[in-house]
Amino acid sequence: MPSFRRPSSAPLWKDEFSVFTADERYVNRRQFAKFLTLTSLGMFVGNLWILGRSWFSHVRPYPRQTVARTADVPVGGVKTFSYPTAADPCILVRTTADTFVAYSQKCTHLSCAVYYERETNRLACPCHQGFFAIADGAVLQGPPRRPLPRVVLERQGDELRAIGLEGA
Ligand code: FES
Repeated sequence: MPSFRRPSSAPLWKDEFSVFTADERYVNRRQFAKFLTLTSLGMFVGNLWILGRSWFSHVRPYPRQTVARTADVPVGGVKTFSYPTAADPCILVRTTADTFVAYSQKCTHLSCAVYYERETNRLACPCHQGFFAIADGAVLQGPPRRPLPRVVLERQGDELRAIGLEGA
């Protein structure tokens, strides 16, 4: 009785399925390329979303708020106020007859309240001896690494208004 033996050593099922190994690899490569493309697209869209969020968080509108009258603050004098919310303490300093500067009163190190040191004309933090320049809030000395956020002021006659916050 004749026997039907397959000439090759490949299993029978490989004959029954018309998928060849070389084609399988090709399909896998294609799927991998599709996966990479979709992943890259997803990351690109995610980065755009993060960029958009950070852009719009920087252009948030600040309230326009009267913080003092010029007559209320003598040269070398100080007035505290809250801006932009009641939970954000700020300090206004009149450095010359015509110059007013205002900063967040929270030290950028660990949020202690800074005060104006008239003798040295700088803002000082009593907690860890941090010092900030009165002209621009830059760090002069101590552990803080970031300058104090500066309150943007607008002068209308004898009225001083806060209109924004820089470096927050
Ligand atoms: S909290 Fe101001 S220096 Fe540390």
